[in-house]
Amino acid sequence: MTGDRAAGRVDATEQDEVFLVSEGDRWFARNVDHLSVHDDAVVRLVDLCGLRPRSVCELGAANGYRVAELQRRFGCRAVAVDASAAAVAAGRRAFPSIEVVHARINAVPLDGAFELVIVNFVLHWVQRSHLMAAAAEIDRLVVDGGHLVIGDFLPSTNTMVPYHHLPGSGVWTFKQDYARLFTASGLYQAVLTLVGAHGGALPASDTADAERVGYAVLHKSLGAYTVRGSGLPEDRVAEAVDGGVAAGGEGR
Ligand SMILES: C[S@@+](CC[C@H](N)C(=O)[O-])C[C@H]1O[C@@H](n2cnc3c(N)ncnc32)[C@H](O)[C@@H]1O
Repeated sequence: MTGDRAAGRVDATEQDEVFLVSEGDRWFARNVDHLSVHDDAVVRLVDLCGLRPRSVCELGAANGYRVAELQRRFGCRAVAVDASAAAVAAGRRAFPSIEVVHARINAVPLDGAFELVIVNFVLHWVQRSHLMAAAAEIDRLVVDGGHLVIGDFLPSTNTMVPYHHLPGSGVWTFKQDYARLFTASGLYQAVLTLVGAHGGALPASDTADAERVGYAVLHKSLGAYTVRGSGLPEDRVAEAVDGGVAAGGEGR
C-alpha cells in the first residue's frame, strides 16, 4: 500500500484494487434492483444486427443479468465475468444456468473464444496501466468472425473525471472512444454505432459532451486484408493469416 492509500487517497496504480475490493460491490448494491434488460441498449443492438450467438461472454457483467437473458433467447453458452464478489455471488444464486466468474478484465481465467463479447460501461473504470492488457483479453475472447459490443461514455476528447462516489480519493473515471482501440487495429469493423445521452434517449443528437454515450457493434475478422502478390486462391487466405500457408512474393 502506498503512502497515498494509507492517507485515504488511491495511487494511480491501485485503482483496480478499489473496484475489486469495494466499489464493484457498492455499485452492485446501489444498482441491483434496477438491473434489467428492459429497454437495454446492448440487447437492442444485438437485435438490430440480427446476431444469434451460440456463445456469449460479458466482461464487467455485474451479476450476469444480461447474458442470462441472451441465453434465454438464444440457448447459448453464457459467461459473466466481474470483479465484484457480491455481484458474482448473487449471479450464481440468481442464474444457475450461466457461468459466473470472479476476475478482472485484464486477466480473465477462461480458455477459448466466444461469438459475442460484451463490455458495457466498464473500461472507464479500468486503471490506465491495465487498459491495453484489458484490450488484449477482450480480443483474445472474441472468436474470429465474432462480434464485440462496447458501450461507454463518448466525449469528443479523452476526459478524466474524479469518481464522484469517492470524492477526493484520487480515483478517476476515464472517458474516451474505446471502440477505437479495436477498430484502429484493422481487425475490427464497426457494424453499427448508436450515440445518445447517458440515461436518456438513444439515438440522440445534441447531447452534452459529458453525457454523451456510444454503443458500438464491431465485427472481428483476422482476414480483413486486401491480398496482393500472394498467388493464393481466395479461399486459402484465411489459412495464410493463421500462418498455415506459405505464400510467394513480398515479405520483407
Ligand atoms: C457500471 S457497472 C456495468 C455493469 C454491466 N456491464 C451493465 O451494463 O449493467 C461496471 C461493472 O464493472 C465491474 N468492474 C469494474 N472494474 C472491473 C475490472 N477491472 N474487471 C472486471 N470487472 C470490473 C464492476 O464490478 C461493475 O459490475
